[in-house]
Amino acid sequence: MNDNQNNDFHRIQNHADIVEIIKSYVKLESHGKNYFGVCPFHDDHSPSMSVSPEKQIYKCFVCGATGNVFNFVQNYLNVSFLEAVKIVADKIGENFVIRESSENAKNNKYYEIMNLATMFYQNNLRTELGSEARKYLYDRGLNDEIIKDFSIGLALPENNLLYKLLSSKNISKKDMDELGLVADGERGTYDLFRNRIIFPLKSPTGKVNGFSGRIYNSESHSKYINTKETIIFKKRENLYNYHLAAPAARQEKFIVICEGFMDAIRIYSVGIKNVVATMGTALAKEQIALLKKLNVKVIITMDNDNAGELATIALGKSLMKENVDIGVVRLTGKKDPDEYILTYGVEAFKDNLRNPMSYPEFMEIVLKKNRNLSNPTDLTAYINDVIDMIKDSNDELLIDITLNKLADEYHLDRELLKSKVKNEEQVEEVKVEVKKEDNTKEIKINNKFNKAFMTMLYYMMNDTNCMRLFLHYNLDLPRCKYRLVSNNLIYYFELNKEIDFADYLTFSENYPEVSKVVKEIINQVHVDEINEDDMEAVIGLVKEIIDREKIKELKAEMKNELDVNRKKKLFEEIIEIKRGCVKDGRD
Ligand code: UTP
Ligand code: MN
Repeated sequence: MNDNQNNDFHRIQNHADIVEIIKSYVKLESHGKNYFGVCPFHDDHSPSMSVSPEKQIYKCFVCGATGNVFNFVQNYLNVSFLEAVKIVADKIGENFVIRESSENAKNNKYYEIMNLATMFYQNNLRTELGSEARKYLYDRGLNDEIIKDFSIGLALPENNLLYKLLSSKNISKKDMDELGLVADGERGTYDLFRNRIIFPLKSPTGKVNGFSGRIYNSESHSKYINTKETIIFKKRENLYNYHLAAPAARQEKFIVICEGFMDAIRIYSVGIKNVVATMGTALAKEQIALLKKLNVKVIITMDNDNAGELATIALGKSLMKENVDIGVVRLTGKKDPDEYILTYGVEAFKDNLRNPMSYPEFMEIVLKKNRNLSNPTDLTAYINDVIDMIKDSNDELLIDITLNKLADEYHLDRELLKSKVKNEEQVEEVKVEVKKEDNTKEIKINNKFNKAFMTMLYYMMNDTNCMRLFLHYNLDLPRCKYRLVSNNLIYYFELNKEIDFADYLTFSENYPEVSKVVKEIINQVHVDEINEDDMEAVIGLVKEIIDREKIKELKAEMKNELDVNRKKKLFEEIIEIKRGCVKDGRD
């Protein structure tokens, strides 16, 4: 940021009155020197936010939100700092031009191309050739206003109309490649999206950065195809409809999160604009951060199937760790919120939203399933699972309530339960050192070997590269139940050539034995971020465990072996395994 721009900020800040600007969004009343209003940054009911004309800052005494006029606009409207400056400048009639850094300018070029493509698709939908697609959308209950709000468009069946259009505007093939719009085949360059209804995907500030295309008049192996990671499309940083949902959520003090973006569109179209969709994947820590930042209750309404239940468990777990207030809605009777609303109506859906379960209440139901709690073994397992679940929370009150309830229900000693939560926290951790070139990375893995196996499988379920890495090491898992999952994953990978978390969950349901373990894994593993370095470290640990067990077996065998030649052979085998460890960079 250069000096000129800095001068601009000061000029605008000096001329803008923070009270007037905030008043245009939130009701303020004057008390003595300061103004007070209901804080828009947390679930506030009394005026906890003060605005000081003298200091030109706002501050909330409850949630601690504070800053200058630009920060307020930035957080309230969920825009970038520069955009906030521009908005304030416009409000007070000052001149301000956003001068982008070269990095931004480069990305702007890409966003402009995406805009061109979006307009092209939108236009196709309006033409005669789009009548069948329009009928499809109308039949699904979408009207023109919704089609416009979501910038829905259409890719025609021809091979490369978008490629030709963009070429005619002197956009390079390289840029189109970079954005995942085209690909090369035997018959030359072709458009990636053909004969599909196009749903643009937008960044948290509302810029189109990717597309999802749905089949509507043809058979295809995949119902939706999506833009892969590109220079501006980072799946882990997007939540469908976040840019529209964020301001609405601040108003309504809650946000709804569902699985499919058609569900989000349906929920939005019945007047609940504070809704986002995960698009069927486990959420990355960036996406969790987007939700957390809103400072409102998150109501989870995933699909009404086993995969939806698993997704709820996983999302709830991540949100609980971040101290987010969680509500869980499990719809019954229809497969997803879209169909639920179409069948039972808006009011029935709103009733569900008004009466969500807490996350521990939901988990209670999940963990009780398939268990006979009058059987001491089942009961012990159940109680341990509840403790495992609740110890992730930082909310002392929630922990207390949950444990008290458990104690009352099963006549257990409260103090014992509490001490178990604490003990679990203090579980000894094994540190694994991974030497990668010259930087030494340390990751912590829970003492239990099982955790290492489960973490590795979790990575494999989430990321194609992690799956490849596993195959590369060619490990043979010694624990039967984990081998079951790894074989199932390998089978899935062979069929699909890539890993898609949600899709795999659905797939695994066809194998009850596998599905049971998968559920356990999702329940117990928490990974902030899928990255190959960590995966490599975990694989290293797993390999070490396997080797160690193998060596133990061989040593026992050697001890009992009387034949000298055979003894020597066993010894050599042990040396070979140990050498393997050294060769992999471990010792
Ligand atoms: P669903 O199969 O539940 O989609 O997948 P849906 O919302 O019910 O879609 P409609 O109603 O049939 O049109 C949930 C999400 O998973 C992703 C999409 O983002 C979808 O919204 N998905 C699903 C894919 O990416 N590819 C697929 O082939 C299927
Ligand atoms: Mn659906």
